[in-house]
Amino acid sequence: MEKVKFGVIGMGNMGSLHAENLLKMKEVELKIVSDPRVDEVMDLTSTLGIPKIAANWGEVVEDPEIDAIVVTAPTVLHYEIISSAINSGKKWIFTEKPVTHDLRSAKKLLELVEKNNIKLQVGFNRRFDHNYKKIHDIIEGGKIGEVHIIRDVTRDPEIHGVDFLKGSGGLFYDIFIHEFDIVRYIISQEVERVYAVGSVKWEPRIKELGDYDTAVVVLEISGGAIAVIEGTMKSVYGYDQRLEAFGSKGSILILNDRETTTVLSDGNGLLLDKPFQDVPPYRPLRHTKHRYEESYFEELYEFVRCIVENKTPLPTAEDGYKANLVAECAKISSKENKPILVGNFEGI
Ligand SMILES: NC(=O)c1ccc[n+]([C@@H]2O[C@H](COP(=O)([O-])OP(=O)(O)OC[C@H]3O[C@@H](n4cnc5c(N)ncnc54)[C@H](O)[C@@H]3O)[C@@H](O)[C@H]2O)c1
Repeated sequence: MEKVKFGVIGMGNMGSLHAENLLKMKEVELKIVSDPRVDEVMDLTSTLGIPKIAANWGEVVEDPEIDAIVVTAPTVLHYEIISSAINSGKKWIFTEKPVTHDLRSAKKLLELVEKNNIKLQVGFNRRFDHNYKKIHDIIEGGKIGEVHIIRDVTRDPEIHGVDFLKGSGGLFYDIFIHEFDIVRYIISQEVERVYAVGSVKWEPRIKELGDYDTAVVVLEISGGAIAVIEGTMKSVYGYDQRLEAFGSKGSILILNDRETTTVLSDGNGLLLDKPFQDVPPYRPLRHTKHRYEESYFEELYEFVRCIVENKTPLPTAEDGYKANLVAECAKISSKENKPILVGNFEGI
């Protein structure tokens, strides 16, 4: 079988992680990567054995030999890169979340994807995480009955630099987007109304961006369930992501995965291992295990399997758009101090 030829655009934290994962797959040939920081990335590409690096992403999307691209450039560039790739005839696109940094561009992209029959997968990796998958399956199997309440906690270990935040779409598009998708995924229903409250507790410069580093979002779900999501860009004890679904027949809870389950007891109290952390900065080769390590591999391998078997990969561009829709409503709600009906913004 001929290998699927890949190009990766943006060789920062996520790009290098996805490149490493692609290199583990026997079905894949990683032919080219692109990043304007050519000199800095060169070390990495030569360590990994990637044959070509281009300063300009146009070289990747216009290369007729490339079958599939992975978009891991800053979010603010996603729309331009993906739409150019589609216009250059690329059919298989994996993009990091969020699909784009706002609602209008997400809608335009969805139309482009549907019109050209593009197979686009959005990097909502939590759907491939063993814990979140199990909650989904438990709920789908009816084991906790009708879901009434979802409580979701997302706490990042550290705030990204302000430059990253400027191109990220903001707290709701960048961080809460995973939660908006995971709520839709585990309950298999749509969000109808959104109420968000935001605050700046960690980094004053975030206020100047008109954004928040701390927020609570309440989602009213189509079947009548309520989801409460609380999130922050920083937590002194590291990455903390938990979720509980409560239903008519019981509840199910996800705790943080840890290195070991040991409990050290001494005269001061009980000591547990810290939760696994977020993706560590690239150090050839990454050797610190991180929370969603397997899910990042699994989501991309699913994409590759879909290419090989010519199937439609999930989550789709529509899932990406729907998460953006909720993010936009959260943004508006937090500014206007009122709940926002999602239906009022659909189609925009
Ligand atoms: N799924 C997840 O859990 C997850 C986690 C973190 C980030 N992300 C997403 O991944 C994307 C990248 O985030 P990151 O953390 O890797 O950021 P990063 O800043 O580490 O990497 C971005 C890279 O893109 C490069 N770049 C900038 N302009 C470019 C251009 N014109 N062409 C090609 N490359 C360009 C930068 O030089 C940098 O190397 C974002 O969309 C972000 O939202 C997803």
